[in-house]
Amino acid sequence: MAGDSTPGELVERYKAYFRLTSQDLEVVAGFRETADREIDEFLDRFYEHLSSLPENRRFYPDVDTLARARAGQREYFLSLFRGVWDEDTLRSRQDFGRVHDRLLTEPWVLSGMFAYYIAEFM
Ligand code: HEM
Repeated sequence: MAGDSTPGELVERYKAYFRLTSQDLEVVAGFRETADREIDEFLDRFYEHLSSLPENRRFYPDVDTLARARAGQREYFLSLFRGVWDEDTLRSRQDFGRVHDRLLTEPWVLSGMFAYYIAEFM
């Protein structure tokens, strides 16, 4: 059970589950400068695609909510290229999970945007 593990053990178990190696982390860190350069355009396209489902617009009732979501996601995106997957990463992924679990009742809305991430990275 996750509740029986220390955060350090959980980090190692998650990395093993996702088959994430130190070599993988080095490879993605090699794309850090590209990520810094591309992030704002990536986010413009991400939110354009997300709002192509009109029912998603209700999640962003005002500019402040959109700004918080965008800032959070900016940090998330850039963290993918830090070359580190540690206890801070674990905490931020857990916060991400809690926020979206509360917001999104239909899991495919989130899966669709992760599919978007994968397609953009290929
Ligand atoms: C690849 C998919 C996504 C990623 C990586 C992502 C990332 C994030 C992150 C890191 C935050 C900040 C969380 C925090 O405050 O701790 C956030 C907030 C938010 N996300 Fe997402 N998100 C994704 C998809 C979605 C989708 C599909 C929706 C709605 C249709 C959504 C709606 C929101 C909203 C409304 C907030 C702001 C919550 C608030 O502070 O009131 N996100 N997102």
